[in-house]
Amino acid sequence: MKINVTEKIYWMGVNDRRKHLFENIWPLPNGVSYNSYLIKDEKTALVDTVEMGADSGYIGWIEMLLEGRELDYLIVNHMELDHAGEIGAIVRRYPNVQIIGNSKTFKILEGYYGITDNLLEVCDGAELELGHHKLKFVFTPWVHWPETMMTYDLTEKVLFSADAFGTFGTLDGAIFDDEIDFEVYREEMRRYYSNIVGKFSNMVQKALAKLCELEVKYLCPLHGPIWRNNPSRVIELYDRWSRYQARDGVVIIYASMYGNNARTADYIARKLAQHGIKQIKIHDVSKTHISYLISDIWKYRGVILGSCAYNTNMFPLIESLTRELEHIGVKNKYLGLFGSYSWNGGGVRNLTAFAEAIGWEQVAPAADIFGTPTPEKLEACDAIALAMAE
Ligand code: FEO
Repeated sequence: MKINVTEKIYWMGVNDRRKHLFENIWPLPNGVSYNSYLIKDEKTALVDTVEMGADSGYIGWIEMLLEGRELDYLIVNHMELDHAGEIGAIVRRYPNVQIIGNSKTFKILEGYYGITDNLLEVCDGAELELGHHKLKFVFTPWVHWPETMMTYDLTEKVLFSADAFGTFGTLDGAIFDDEIDFEVYREEMRRYYSNIVGKFSNMVQKALAKLCELEVKYLCPLHGPIWRNNPSRVIELYDRWSRYQARDGVVIIYASMYGNNARTADYIARKLAQHGIKQIKIHDVSKTHISYLISDIWKYRGVILGSCAYNTNMFPLIESLTRELEHIGVKNKYLGLFGSYSWNGGGVRNLTAFAEAIGWEQVAPAADIFGTPTPEKLEACDAIALAMAE
C-alpha cells in the first residue's frame, strides 16, 4: 500500500486490534494504531517504527516503498517500544542506516538493543538536508518520555509529533482528519491524553509554546489520524487539556458494597439535575476501569467521590483511584465527598485526607452516612449538590 501524506512522504502505520491493554493497563476496545513515516528524497529517512511484531510485513513494506534503495536515516523521536519495537529489525535489514536521536535517545537505545554505532546525535534546533526536504529537530522532553523530540519538515510544513496529538483507536480505512468522523475519536483522544500524557501537562504547555512558532500544514502523530485539514483542532484540544480546562458538569464516582452509596450517588445526581446541571455522569468504581474514570475527571469541572468504609480505610478501588490522581497531579477541580459506615468509618476520613493532599476545592462538608441512607440522612448531601451548581 502507498499512502502519501505529501508527494514524498508516506504513512507507514499499523493497526493493532489484538491487544487488550495499552501498556498492559489501559483498555483498547477500539484498538490503537502505531504510525511511522517514510521520507523518500535524495536521502531516505524513516521517522520512528512500530511495535515489535505488530505487522510481520513491516520490513517488506519499507522495501517495497524504497524500490531497492537503501535507508539512509532512522529518526527516533520517541524510544517507547510501541514505536521503537522494529529498530532491531531495521538495523539488521539496513546495517548502514544512521540513527538520529539525542543523547537520552541513545542511552535507552543501547539499553534495549545494545546499539552504539552509526548514531547521529542532534541538538535542539539542529537541521538536516535530505534533498528537497529540510528537517529540523525540536526537543519536547516528557511528551511523553524524557528523550522525546519532534521532527519538523521545513519544506512542506510537516510536523512529526511523536505521542503528542495522538489517540487510542485504529485507523479503519480513514487515515486523515478529513476522512474520519471526529466524534468517533473525541472521547478516546481525551482518554489517551489523560491516561498517557496528562501527568506531563506542564511539559505539554512548554512544547506548545515552542511549536507555536511553526506553521503546521500536516500534523503526523504516532497514534491516530494525520491532521491535514484542520491541525489546529487537535492542537487546541491539547492546549485545553494541558491547562486542565474542563467543561461544566459533574462526574460522581462511588464505591458501594451493598448498594447504600449507590443510592446516595443517585440522590446527589438528582439534586444536581434539579439545580440545573445538565452534564452528570455516575460511575461505580467496581465496574468501570480507572482509565475511563480518569478521562471523565479530566472532562468535567466537578468531581464527587463516595466511599464506604472498608477495614477502617477507603474502599480499595477508590483508594487506588485517589492514589493515581495524586500521582498524575490533576488540577483545578471542584470536589464533593460522601460515604457511609457501620462501625468506625474510614471512607470519608481518608477521602478528606486525599482532598487536602491534592488541593482541589472542596465545595461543602463531606456527608458521611451511618447505616441506611434514609431521606433524612441524605439531606446531608444537599449542600454538596447546591454548591456544585453555584
Ligand atoms: Fe506511544 Fe510513549 O509511546
